[in-house]
Amino acid sequence: IPPPRQWQRAGQLHSSGGRYMGESFLDNETWRYFWHPVCTVKELAESDKGRGELLCARLLGTELVIARLDSGVVAMNNRCPHRSAKLHLGWNRGDSVQCPYHGWQWGADGSCKGIPAAPDGPIPPNAKAVSYDCAERYGLVWVRLDGSAGTAIPEHPVFDDPAFRCVPGPSYDWKTHSARRVENYTDLAHFPFVHPETLGSAGHVTFLTPQIAFRKEGRMRFRYAPPEGARNAVDASGNFSPLAFSDYTIRLPFGVSVDLTLQNGARTVLWVWATPLDDIHCRSFWFACRNGDLDGPDQPHIDQQMRILEEDVDIVESQDPEQIPHPRDEIAVAPDKVSLTYRRLLYALCKAKAQGPEALKAFLDTERDDI
Ligand code: FES
Ligand code: CO
Repeated sequence: IPPPRQWQRAGQLHSSGGRYMGESFLDNETWRYFWHPVCTVKELAESDKGRGELLCARLLGTELVIARLDSGVVAMNNRCPHRSAKLHLGWNRGDSVQCPYHGWQWGADGSCKGIPAAPDGPIPPNAKAVSYDCAERYGLVWVRLDGSAGTAIPEHPVFDDPAFRCVPGPSYDWKTHSARRVENYTDLAHFPFVHPETLGSAGHVTFLTPQIAFRKEGRMRFRYAPPEGARNAVDASGNFSPLAFSDYTIRLPFGVSVDLTLQNGARTVLWVWATPLDDIHCRSFWFACRNGDLDGPDQPHIDQQMRILEEDVDIVESQDPEQIPHPRDEIAVAPDKVSLTYRRLLYALCKAKAQGPEALKAFLDTERDDI
């Protein structure tokens, strides 16, 4: 199913209504050190309109060309260094991406492989396209703009587990910072207000301050045991069924997996990564995975999630500013512990980044039982 039209408003980049004039809380350069999915492998394959697989993607305000060359998937800055045309409008030549304007060819490492108008050379020494780390995992194409902190592609707890069926949902754009999207995904107190029919009914307001643990590779974990009568997850017939508990893992900076155990013992694992397109827009890539009803239809499981997303989108996009502001500009109470802890971790991550890639790596590998 294509995402509802309202999710596609993020097409107008930088068109925020109210601009936040306060101090910035997070350093958005920090996310350059992490892998982010930028498109699906399927979208890349479908980009082939007779010129080979070439797709324009966006990450942290940088426009990319994604190509499947003979050596595998590659990501380069979409700007040709010659006269600044967009490379994704060119041709995939197998060993290189050829610019649509004057045909200069750029190899996987960004080196210039040929200048048609000057075949006898020399190739100018500064004729280099900017290329980035790029890899395929979980049917997604991942890009890392800066590899110096040695970060890994985030784990997906059940993608390779034969007991589970993992179905990718349609990715969607929201006009909000990736961190706001993660906060919404892990916010427990909004269920009775935003999701009264789906995740929690009115009267089941959650006053929950779970124990939160921090684990290697920047994983923040906690368990949610819902109040009696609260609902979650879909069963084989597409109905909501009672939840026993759910284990949340936030993978810094913008990943979440939720392992839901139903009262009937079946498990549903939801996995999402909110890729920062820029400072105020994100694209969420996600899967709904289940270990029961393996031969049943997938669509009810996707539809249930999309119904929940539709309940969330207008509220989250109404948050002004889109970025997480300075702590003094929002108010928190004890049940905001998850969001407060996540913010503290993001802030600490930005502080570590300021000390360099080594410090960033060391911070991610810290372990603490209660934070
Ligand atoms: Fe790319 Fe001239 S602008 S080859
Ligand atoms: Co919600």
